[in-house]
Amino acid sequence: MKHFGILALAGLATAKPLQGRATQPIISCTSLSAPTVDGAVVTSINATQQDAHCAVDVYLTHGTAADNVHILTWLPTEWNGRYEGTGGSGAVAGGSSSSLSNPVAAGYAAGTTNAGLPSSSDGAAWANDTQLRTNFAYLSVHEMTLVGKALTKQYYGQEPVYSYWNGCSTGGRQGNMEVQRYPTDYQGVYAASPAINYDRFQVAQLWPFVVQTVEGEFVPKCVLTALTNAAIAACDGDDGGKDGLISNPNTCNFDAASLVGQASNCSESPTLTARQAKIFKSIAHGPVDTSGNKLFSGIPLGTPLGTLASTSPPSLMTSWVKNFVLREPNFNLSTVTYETFPKIFQQSIDMYHNFSGTSNTDLSSFQSAGGKLLSWHGFSDSIIGGNGSVQYRVDVQNTMGGAAKVDEFFRLFMAPGVDHCSGGYGAVPEDPFNALVAWVENGTAPDTLAAKGSSGFTRNLCRYPLQLKYTGSGDINAAASWTCV
Ligand SMILES: *[C@@H]1O[C@H](CO)[C@@H](O)[C@H](O)[C@H]1NC(C)=O
Ligand SMILES: *[C@@H]1O[C@H](CO)[C@@H](O)[C@H](O)[C@H]1NC(C)=O
Ligand SMILES: *[C@@H]1O[C@H](CO)[C@@H](O)[C@H](O)[C@H]1NC(C)=O
Ligand SMILES: *[C@@H]1O[C@H](CO)[C@@H](O)[C@H](O)[C@H]1NC(C)=O
Ligand SMILES: *[C@@H]1O[C@H](CO)[C@@H](O)[C@H](O)[C@H]1NC(C)=O
Ligand SMILES: *[C@@H]1O[C@H](CO)[C@@H](O)[C@H](O)[C@H]1NC(C)=O
Ligand SMILES: *[C@@H]1O[C@H](CO)[C@@H](O)[C@H](O)[C@H]1NC(C)=O
Repeated sequence: MKHFGILALAGLATAKPLQGRATQPIISCTSLSAPTVDGAVVTSINATQQDAHCAVDVYLTHGTAADNVHILTWLPTEWNGRYEGTGGSGAVAGGSSSSLSNPVAAGYAAGTTNAGLPSSSDGAAWANDTQLRTNFAYLSVHEMTLVGKALTKQYYGQEPVYSYWNGCSTGGRQGNMEVQRYPTDYQGVYAASPAINYDRFQVAQLWPFVVQTVEGEFVPKCVLTALTNAAIAACDGDDGGKDGLISNPNTCNFDAASLVGQASNCSESPTLTARQAKIFKSIAHGPVDTSGNKLFSGIPLGTPLGTLASTSPPSLMTSWVKNFVLREPNFNLSTVTYETFPKIFQQSIDMYHNFSGTSNTDLSSFQSAGGKLLSWHGFSDSIIGGNGSVQYRVDVQNTMGGAAKVDEFFRLFMAPGVDHCSGGYGAVPEDPFNALVAWVENGTAPDTLAAKGSSGFTRNLCRYPLQLKYTGSGDINAAASWTCV
């Protein structure tokens, strides 16, 4: 099983302090009292002075549900006037103090919550519990934010001047959910590689497994890698510069069928077969119903397929179908066919779209509250296919007046060749969180995001729908040699 957690934490951006503002507490840490939270009962508060911050543990519960939600808030002794909410990964809402150290060191008051969930890497342990599903879907992050703001008010004598969300993966989804459901909680939401379209992407990511099961072959990993590399080679130059990256997989004209009969460079399967090419093409295209209508985005060309197209797909997704949608923990995924897949896909929508889908496209409340949403997604995300973010942004544009209008408050930066939250060959955004802070506080909307590849090359990532293009001269490894068109 692939571990979301480590990847997601690596994608969490750190923050620098706000210039010229340092507020000190007006009361002692231990004298903080439990805030009230509408719809919940706070069962305990424990505030402990640490070296340079006050650590507050708040526990709350919801009526007869008897859940036990842990909210952690850290309040620095030298406060920069801001609050930062931090998110989770996979089926974990958050709740680890490790995500608070960086924000607090930078002067932020910061929070995280476990949403009352029992430890469960794939959610199986709480899939049947209505309250816990609600906590995970949206409620706990909101309550955490209310608690965090109330505690800053008590401790420093004022609520945060600015509040920010910072999350990747599930944390990205949580940020989008705040934008959609609680549009005044945060002025700035940083949502990287977001697990939005939750009802659909979780099922869609099983399409590679279903295709291979139905077609009767799990394509050897080295063949998948050869085909991915062939796609990159075929479309690398589309943007004018051969740098090993596809700038826009959606305009890449690569047909795996053209390589049938050629060497796979793979001892397990020396020659590429028509069936292997068909499977690869179908995975890239994405799931379809029995009439061939597309149900969801495919996996962008250039994305490593070793995880999603393996014989054991990530347990987060298999558990979603078994425990959350079908409620049959022992369901045999190998029995899914091209006829039953669309039914499962639709059932997931019917049960969860409006609950935790996190793809509401009417963001007008957030916009009119002055909020800013900064999102980026790797185009080679091997866990949550990057095109889900493109799809969502296009849907928002269609609802809210087009690309230019949406750019006023929601910017998406696609990162060619970057994997889930970080990693991959592509250039990863270097300081996206502070780009958001500057946008909110100084009105400097980011046109590009400075990014760096692990081999040292740089790019200024373009805001969607623009894409990178080589200027035709200059060092191909230098951001300055590329422009956005
Ligand atoms: C309060 O928090 C401190 C520090 O984490 C811990 O040592 C202590 O046991 C907690 N007290 C209670 C009553 O939970
Ligand atoms: C959830 O409900 C299903 C269907 O009743 C049951 O098979 C499964 O064991 C339950 N899961 C847990 C963790 O209780
Ligand atoms: C196999 O390797 C050769 C030589 O590097 C290359 O030309 C060919 O395209 C590769 N085949 C595939 C399917 O990637
Ligand atoms: C990506 O999303 C866009 C917008 O919805 C869509 O036109 C395109 O076909 C999608 N790409 C893939 C690979 O599904
Ligand atoms: C799952 O279903 C497949 C296809 O019908 C079958 O071959 C396999 O034996 C089943 N596995 C289990 C554990 O029942
Ligand atoms: C979601 O809610 C909207 C508005 O209430 C409704 O029109 C739509 O049918 C709902 N979708 C699902 C899948 O329940
Ligand atoms: C806002 O602009 C001022 C003046 O240029 C600068 O000192 C400050 O760092 C900026 N703030 C942020 C958050 O970028």
